[in-house]
Formats: sequence, C-alpha cells, structure tokens
Amino acid sequence: MNWVKRAIQPRLGSTTLWDPRTGRRQRGYVLRSDRSEEAGFAGEHEGLQAGPAMPAWSRATGLCRMVLGGPAQGKHLLVRTRRRLALKNLPRVSPSFDGLTRILYGAIPAKLLLTAIELKVFSHLTEPMSAESLARAIGAHPGNARLFLDALAANELLYKRDGRYRNTPVANAFLVEGRPTYLGDVLADDAEWMRPALEGLTALVKDGPPPSGGPSHSIPWPQEAEIRANEQRAGRAQQAAALISRLPEFPHMKKLLDLGGGAGLIGLAIVAAHPTVIGVVFDRPEVVKVSQRFIREYDLQERVTVIGGDFSQDPIGDGYDLVWTSYTLNFHRGNLDPIIRTIHAALNPGGVCVSFAESLTDERTKPTMMINSMLAVGLTGGDLMFDEGEIAQAMLRVGFRSVHSRAAEGSQPHGPVIIDIARK
Ligand SMILES: C[S@@+](CC[C@H](N)C(=O)[O-])C[C@H]1O[C@@H](n2cnc3c(N)ncnc32)[C@H](O)[C@@H]1O
Repeated sequence: MNWVKRAIQPRLGSTTLWDPRTGRRQRGYVLRSDRSEEAGFAGEHEGLQAGPAMPAWSRATGLCRMVLGGPAQGKHLLVRTRRRLALKNLPRVSPSFDGLTRILYGAIPAKLLLTAIELKVFSHLTEPMSAESLARAIGAHPGNARLFLDALAANELLYKRDGRYRNTPVANAFLVEGRPTYLGDVLADDAEWMRPALEGLTALVKDGPPPSGGPSHSIPWPQEAEIRANEQRAGRAQQAAALISRLPEFPHMKKLLDLGGGAGLIGLAIVAAHPTVIGVVFDRPEVVKVSQRFIREYDLQERVTVIGGDFSQDPIGDGYDLVWTSYTLNFHRGNLDPIIRTIHAALNPGGVCVSFAESLTDERTKPTMMINSMLAVGLTGGDLMFDEGEIAQAMLRVGFRSVHSRAAEGSQPHGPVIIDIARK
C-alpha cells in the first residue's frame, strides 16, 4: 500500500486533483462521496460534495478529485494510488441527442397533416368547433378526436381556445377543400411519391432500384397538371410574375413561352402582369388540354395559346422574348444541351430564358428538404436533381451571352430553388 497524505486547500465549489506521481494538480471529476471509501479515500469526509463520475484516466491511476466545502476546509485527504479503483466511469458526451428525437418524431406531424386532409378536418374548422361536434361531423371517436385535434394544434395547424378548435391562417389558405389554393390533393400526391422511401427503404438500399425502373408512383401527366394547378396559383405563379416584371426587358416583351407549363398558370400570371404581351404554353398534347381550361377560366383566350408536343423533338415555336421553364428541365437532365439549344434558337436576339429548378450543393447533401422530398424518386431509379451550376453551364455552352443565377425568394414545394437568367 502506498498511502499519500496531502493537505487540500479547497475552495467551495472548486475541484482539485493531485497526482502524487507527478506532483501536479489538475482539474477532474468529482467522486461520489458515498463511494469515497471504496475509492480509497480515508480521513475527513465531512463536507465532500457528490459528483457525477470518475473519468477513465482517474480510474486508471487511482486518482480522485474531490470538492471540499466549508467543514472540510484545511482537512487532509488520503489518496491510495496503488490499487485500481473499482468505479465505473460514464462516457464523456458533448453533443446533445435532441436532433435524433426531433428527426424521429417528425414522422408524426406528417401523418397528422395527411390524416386531417383525408378526414377533411380543415374543411370543417373554418369556424370554431368543439372536439365533440367535429367528431360527429367526421364520424370519429370523440376522445381520440380530441387528442388528434390537440396534436394538430400542437403542430400549429389549428388554434384551440376555450376547448374549441379552428384553422390557423395556413390551414385556412391551403387546406380547405374547394378553395383555388387548396393543396390537400398536392400534398397527398407528394406523399405517394415519397411512399417507396417510407415503406421500402431497407429493400431499396440493399437491393437497388426495382427492375421496372422509375418511381413506383406515377400518375398520368394531365392528372398531375390538374392536381398541381393549385400549387401554381398558391403563390408560385404570383412570384414568377413579380420576378419577370422586374427584368429590364419586361416592358418591351411581345411574346413569351411557358415551356413544360403544365396547367400553365405561371405563363398566364406573367402575361396578366403585362399590358400587351402574348403567351404560349407548351406541353404534351394531353396536358395542354388542361392548360386550355385555365386559359378560359382566367379569360385570356385572346392572349394565350397552346402548343402540344414533345419538346425534345417537336418545334416549340419561335420569336420569343422570354422562355420560362420551371421544374421541367430535370426530366432531361442527362441530355440538357439539346433542349437548351432549342430554347436559344427560339428566342429573339436579346431574348431571355429563365429556368427555375432545384439544384444540390455540398456534394449533393443539401438542401435537406430537397434531398428528403426527392429521395424516393432517386432510390427508385430517377435521379433528377441537378448539381449547382449545371443548367447555367449548359446555357453558356450553347451560346447564351450571360447567365445570372440566384436563389428564388418565397416558399417552394420542394425547398430552395435556383433561378438561372440567361440572355441571348
Ligand atoms: C413537373 S411539371 C412542371 C410544370 C410547371 N412548369 C410548373 O412549374 O409547375 C413538368 C412538366 O413538363 C412537361 N414535360 C416534360 N418533358 C416534356 C417534353 N419532352 N415535352 C413536353 N412536355 C414535357 C410535363 O408534361 C409536365 O407538365
């Protein structure tokens, strides 16, 4: 036994470790006072404060640090250095695991939203309602309906006041059926696109894409255009019109093209922001029938026409001062130059091409929302995401004079988007 007797000059709340081999004092962890004997301490224990753990290095050398307070002031402390201490140490931890639980419980808000859409909860809650009344209206179990509504309120989709629930402004704007900005069908469709990643992730990671290739969820393009029309007029079309209106060329534009326009509401909004410009919506022949319906709905038959075709082989028209293309070039990612060349040829000298598309950064690990929303499509064999700068480089390659790229303002369905503005 090698017992060392040292005088400690403690300060209340301070910690001191004396290493008898080096003679140096070091900072360390506090030994639990109820284990001090086991650790080899002897002498005066009065005034020792409990601490959480012994660190590994302390256990290995048999050294302990103690906090001594008031009554222990000036008392001696014996430290036995030969015997290994029997105490188990806890690991040192610096990050918090909050992020893990936040990810895990993120599945619940998504399910709450989709279920409330399915049960048409928001369509009933434009006015305040009790849980019992809502349960009756949607044919639900009263007790669980209340818990469900509380959870929706916890996730800021509803307000609850005096036991009655009503929509938040976001729910009112986008989740009440029948409104032109109703996004319930869009969100349900997005959930279908995500389903392979949610239900079959292990198999997709282990076995690769299904032999059939391509996303397991796909609906006909015209139906997709119908569903996505509300997404266009729930803010995207207005943002596009504001963006294009600010271009210096805008006042002098005479003719524009919305390429792969889907429902065409973005092209319509840009046309409507100008006193005289005429517009063309180009998409697949069956999709432009949907565009035509919206052209009539917004009474723009005099100024907007459609062309149906496949833009990778059919003429897209010419004499344009602006070609707008959003969320469309992705489908031609592997073969971008030919379509950009077609756009370039269709523009007048001084014409502008504006591309609105997602692109990935940080070695294709950001933006997170984009990665999450497109994961299922990628895993099932359709990696549509551009690298940062990919479109701009193609624009310069095919002969555009300049390209300005920047992040789009406002909210976008799959997260941040890059706008590339190319001038001929
Ligand atoms: C994701 S949607 C985007 C619609 C719209 N631009 C928007 O921002 O909401 C892509 C559209 O491009 C059209 N599209 C893709 N490839 C096409 C092609 N080769 N010829 C014609 N249209 C095409 C699709 O039919 C679809 O309407």
